[in-house]
Amino acid sequence: MKKYNWAILGCGWIAEIFASDLKIVDNAVLYAAASRNLSKAKNFANKFGFQKAYGSYIEMLEDDNVDIVYIATPHSFHCKYTLLSLERKKAVLCEKAFAINQKEVALMINASKEHNTFLMEAFWTRLVPTFKKVLSIINSKELGELKTIQSDFMFYVPFNAKSRLYDLSLGGGALLDIGIYPVFTALQTLGKPNNILAYAIKSPTGSDEHLDIIFEYENDKKAYLRAGFRNDAPNYSVFHFEKGTVQISREMNCPIIIKTEKGIQEMKEDDGPGYGYYFEAAHVMECLDKGLIESPILSNDFSLELIKTLDEIRTKINVVYPNHD
Ligand SMILES: NC(=O)c1ccc[n+]([C@@H]2O[C@H](COP(=O)([O-])OP(=O)(O)OC[C@H]3O[C@@H](n4cnc5c(N)ncnc54)[C@H](OP(=O)(O)O)[C@@H]3O)[C@@H](O)[C@H]2O)c1
Repeated sequence: MKKYNWAILGCGWIAEIFASDLKIVDNAVLYAAASRNLSKAKNFANKFGFQKAYGSYIEMLEDDNVDIVYIATPHSFHCKYTLLSLERKKAVLCEKAFAINQKEVALMINASKEHNTFLMEAFWTRLVPTFKKVLSIINSKELGELKTIQSDFMFYVPFNAKSRLYDLSLGGGALLDIGIYPVFTALQTLGKPNNILAYAIKSPTGSDEHLDIIFEYENDKKAYLRAGFRNDAPNYSVFHFEKGTVQISREMNCPIIIKTEKGIQEMKEDDGPGYGYYFEAAHVMECLDKGLIESPILSNDFSLELIKTLDEIRTKINVVYPNHD
């Protein structure tokens, strides 16, 4: 089994969760942790067992032994560090949102092709067995046609103008941080909508604090999507078919609840070890083993379609990211 040297770029909150899952993937070598601050990188490296710690992202990228870079900075830096990684022939797994807008995502995809180097958005939910099972229920048509979905992702975050969740210069707002999940779910299941309606409640920085979005499709199919930082919520995705409903919760290690005229059935997919980020890490290395430069499951064309949809929503709610748009 070929082993790959992973490097973390940006030692923040999600990087910790990802690193703890990376530890349990057999062919992943926890090689380097890079932060803007050396002592933070050293603490991170010690905590998870990385061999090297760098106090600069660029120094890490100059290390010839790094095979794969996991980019976990705020969204506004994803494009910059993806391009710097791909230029150095490092495979890239970059956190969602892939970048700030479609212009940046297009640059990243072009760079992947130009340097013949792997690139994938870290949309972990696409790779977990629970979501794969929902897609297989839709495709099998065992419950008839999928007509409507409802998908929510909300939690309470008190307003703080400097937080990356509210600071527009860092791509702050509900849309790119959590609204992206319901939008992703609609695109993966019902596809590209014919029309989008979007309403936002704004925070004092002008960022979108709460979003209500409706996707309209042919034959009156619809997706009702909500996201925001104003309140907590159960955060379910519910798929309404002709002959039943399927429900999953935001946490993908959940039972799938299927309700039909025969009653209610609960099924649980094997969600593997860790937090669920295990699957995307393993998938990147499967792709590299096959010499691929993009995932056949989570293609870069899909990621481009996703960010185009997010741009369209953002135009409708009139949110602009300074220095990017
Ligand atoms: N897949 C998921 O489930 C999931 C969950 C949460 C977040 N995310 C995504 O992951 C990314 C990071 O989110 P997070 O919650 O981990 O953020 P975070 O805790 O704020 O960490 C971001 C890290 O980025 C680095 N960074 C570089 N320049 C920065 C700047 N100017 N300001 C602040 N940080 C900067 C910092 O690392 P150093 O100080 O070490 O340089 C910081 O710790 C976002 O794009 C987010 O959407 C994904």
